[in-house]
Amino acid sequence: MVKNSPKYKCSNCNFYYSKWAGKCTECGAWSSIEIDESFSKGRIKNLFSGRSGKSVELLSLSTFDSEPARRKTHINEFDRVLGGGVVPASAILLSGDPGIGKSTLLLQVATSLADNGSNVIYISGEEAPDQIRMRARRLRKEHSTLKIASETNLRDIITTLDTEKVDLLIVDSIQTIYADTIESGPGSVGQVRTCVLDLTNFAKNKGVSIIFVGHVTKDGQIAGPKLVEHMVDTVIHFEGERGIHFRILRAIKNRFGPSDEIGVFEMTGNGLEEVNNPSELFLSERNTINNGSVVFSNIEGTRPVLVEIQALVAPSSLGTPRRTVVGWDSARLSMIIAILDARCQRSFTGKDVYLNVAGGMRVLEPAADLAVAAALLSASDEISLPINTAVFGELSLSGALRQVNQPDARIKEAKKLGFNSIVLPSGSKTLNYNDIELKDYNSISDFINNNIKISK
Ligand code: TYD
Ligand code: MG
Repeated sequence: MVKNSPKYKCSNCNFYYSKWAGKCTECGAWSSIEIDESFSKGRIKNLFSGRSGKSVELLSLSTFDSEPARRKTHINEFDRVLGGGVVPASAILLSGDPGIGKSTLLLQVATSLADNGSNVIYISGEEAPDQIRMRARRLRKEHSTLKIASETNLRDIITTLDTEKVDLLIVDSIQTIYADTIESGPGSVGQVRTCVLDLTNFAKNKGVSIIFVGHVTKDGQIAGPKLVEHMVDTVIHFEGERGIHFRILRAIKNRFGPSDEIGVFEMTGNGLEEVNNPSELFLSERNTINNGSVVFSNIEGTRPVLVEIQALVAPSSLGTPRRTVVGWDSARLSMIIAILDARCQRSFTGKDVYLNVAGGMRVLEPAADLAVAAALLSASDEISLPINTAVFGELSLSGALRQVNQPDARIKEAKKLGFNSIVLPSGSKTLNYNDIELKDYNSISDFINNNIKISK
C-alpha cells in the first residue's frame, strides 16, 4: 500500500529520504533535507505518467431534478411494462423468438408515437421498405408520419441520424447491423457489442431513446452471451406459445421501473391488441367439470393475474414415468411430487404427470406450489375443488405452507372475478373480508385433510 506520508529530499543532491534527518548521508550537507512538496502534491502525476485528468464535481444525493417526463406510447400494456412510458435517452432491448411479433409490436409503438407528435425513425436491417409498408397497411397505419429506412451499415445510420431530429429510434434487429471497422460478420459478439455501444452513446448524447430488437439464440440467450442485456437500461422479453395467440411482454430488467411487470396482447389479423383484463382471458374457457384444474392467484410485477393450473395423472407404461410441464418450472414440479410422497404418502410412482398453465402463460412464482399440489391431487383422485375457489401459497420441503407476498392483491383480483373462497397459508396478513371465505392451512397435509379427503 502506498502511504500518503510526505517525502523528504536533499536540496543539495536531490537524494530522497522517508524521514527527516539533519545531515544528508549522500553529499554530507547539513540542514539541506526538506519536505518535497512536488512529490506529495504531484502523486497523481507520477501514477499517470505525467498527465493528470480533470477533477470531477462530486454531488450529493439530495439534489435531484424532478424525474424526466416519460413519453407515453398510448399502447397501455407497453407503457405499463416500461414503468409508465419510454424514458428519454434510455436504451431498451426487446427480445423474443423469431415470429413472435416483435416487429409488429414496434411498428405499432412507432406509429402510435409518431402520430402523437414525436419524431420516430424505424430502421430495419431485415426487411425492405415495401415489406414494412405492407405490415403498416395490415395494421391500418399506412398514413402514419413515421419515417422508415432499410439499412445495415452503422456508419450510414449514424450519419443519417446526425442531421435528423429524433425522439425515438428503433433498430430492428441489432444482429443485422454491422460496423465496417470490424472484420467479423454481422451478429458476431464484436459487431453486436460495437453497434450497441456506438448507437447507445450517440443516442444518449443526443437525448434520443432507442429500442433494439434482439433475437434469442437457440439456447435462449439474447445476442449470444447475454451481451446486450448489460449494456442497456431496460430489457423486455416478448413470449408466447406456438399456436396460441396470446403474447406476454415481460420486463426482465428495468433501471427506471419495476421489473417482472407484464403486458398482455393478443395477435389478431390486424396486429396486436391489448388485453386489459388478463385474468378474464386466462380463465375464459374454464368449464364446470374441472378435475385436475385449480385457479391460482398469481402476481406478475405489480399486477395480479388469475391463471388456471391443469394437471393430468395417468398410469405410465414407461420405466421412468413422464413428467411434462408447460408454463412452469419442471424442477419445481419434481419437488412438489417428492413433498407429496414424503410428507403426505401420496405417491406418483408409476404414473405419468402432465402439468399445464392454460392460455400460454408462464408462471414463475413459487406461490404457485399449493395450486400445483392441489391440481395433482385433484387429478389423481378425480375430485375437484369447488369451482369458486382460488389458491395461493408456497410449499417448503417439510410440507409446511409458507406465506407469500401481496395476499390482499391476490384475494381482491379473485373476488373481482367472482371467486368467493380462497385457500391460503395460515398467518397471511390480510384485510377482513365478509363476502369471501378465507381457508388457511399450516401444511399441505392440513389442506388435504380438509379438502381432498372430505370431498371424496
Ligand atoms: P413479426 O412481427 O414479423 O415477428 P418477429 O419480428 O418477432 O419475427 O410477426 C410475425 C407473425 O405475426 C407472422 O407469423 C404473422 C403474424 N401477424 C399476424 O398474425 N397479424 C398481423 O397483423 C401481423 C402484422 C403479423
Ligand atoms: Mg421481425
